[in-house]
Amino acid sequence: MDPFVFHTPTKITFGQGVAASACDAIQEIPGCRIVLITDKQLLKTDLVNYLIAQWQAQNHICVFSDVLSDAHLTGVNEAVRLAKNEKCNAIIALGGGSVIDTAKVVNIILTLGGEALDHQGMNNLTSRLLPSVAIPTTAGTGAEVSLVAMIKDDIEGKKLLFGSPFLAADQAFLDPELIVSLPAGLTAATGMDAVTHCIEALVVEGTSSPITDCLALDALNRLFKHLPEAKKDGRNLEARSQTLVASTMAGMAFSSCGVGIVHALSHAIGGQFATHHGMTNAVLLPYGMRFNLGFATKRYAEMARYLKVSDKENDSVAAQKLIDSIENLISDLGLPKNLRSLSVPELDGEKLQQLVALASSDPAMIFNTRQATEKDIVKIYEDAY
Ligand SMILES: NC(=O)c1ccc[n+]([C@@H]2O[C@H](COP(=O)([O-])OP(=O)(O)OC[C@H]3O[C@@H](n4cnc5c(N)ncnc54)[C@H](O)[C@@H]3O)[C@@H](O)[C@H]2O)c1
Ligand SMILES: [Fe+2]
Repeated sequence: MDPFVFHTPTKITFGQGVAASACDAIQEIPGCRIVLITDKQLLKTDLVNYLIAQWQAQNHICVFSDVLSDAHLTGVNEAVRLAKNEKCNAIIALGGGSVIDTAKVVNIILTLGGEALDHQGMNNLTSRLLPSVAIPTTAGTGAEVSLVAMIKDDIEGKKLLFGSPFLAADQAFLDPELIVSLPAGLTAATGMDAVTHCIEALVVEGTSSPITDCLALDALNRLFKHLPEAKKDGRNLEARSQTLVASTMAGMAFSSCGVGIVHALSHAIGGQFATHHGMTNAVLLPYGMRFNLGFATKRYAEMARYLKVSDKENDSVAAQKLIDSIENLISDLGLPKNLRSLSVPELDGEKLQQLVALASSDPAMIFNTRQATEKDIVKIYEDAY
């Protein structure tokens, strides 16, 4: 067996109603002053309002809710200003990946000073950060356990990567009741982000391990079974629980082994055209899978058999069946099948070249099992349009 490193520092608590006790996790800090990061949409839900009122009754908490979808640098800077004014020394993130990523980078700046751009890149953090808790309200990104954060630089139209084991939240509270209010379309899109994490983690080059394989394969199976149910009936708490736990498992997997070409191409599109991350992944996933097919046949075949979409066929037939079943899942979930449907403008000339440059230099590309030339990337974007 090849040597590997697997690192997952976050304590995970799962269960209906567990979010209520999230504050207990950090309130022992002497003089604890919490900045709670969330977004405006979530503040419209009864459960989030109830939780905040409960927590505020017993703790000093200031709320920052100006996080935009896709976690912008401006939101990070505004939250830092508020937290510094309020002398906060602990952070709770209550929201989807955008909220959790914002909280992670706010924590970097509160602890280490400077600006976000001073700390971007991999393994640039030099010490532990302030105590932090992440409570996901979507089941997709795995950001509650991952060692990375993606923040959009509006000026450059580019997603910035921050990566370090210090970025992981100290504790994650997985409460399926919080996901019930997530609309059907976002349930499908965020779920497909988790599906993409699983598939890409299972075919990375040189960084996977028996632990990441096991997490990603089991998570993929849970998502296949329960994501359509969660989309169909958002109040189905068993389906919400299964997809939530699966997305966390997928987060643990990809955090240790990386993702691949689908994420690289998706980050470039999301940075330029503000498309939703999970939705963009859903569109690009079949194209990325077909691109990798000849290099990942055995892995795809193993996945197909585990998911029981293939039985005794040879590897190439089984691998093709996996791609077919992913396309069927995307159809069943009613998700768009091309970039045009995401309102991405016609891709040509300078714009296309800019996207290709962004995708080629995206850190996710390093782990892809097949090297992609600029010509390959152009072809995938054109086919996916
Ligand atoms: N750090 C990581 O490991 C990681 C991994 C994957 C993606 N990401 C990042 O996460 C971001 C996407 O996060 P996301 O897909 O969770 O979406 P999101 O956080 O952007 O939320 C999407 C929308 O859903 C709403 N919403 C969230 N939870 C809700 C709920 N329970 N009820 C009603 N509305 C709800 C939000 O208000 C928002 O309008 C992107 O910026 C992406 O780059 C990070
Ligand atoms: Fe993702």
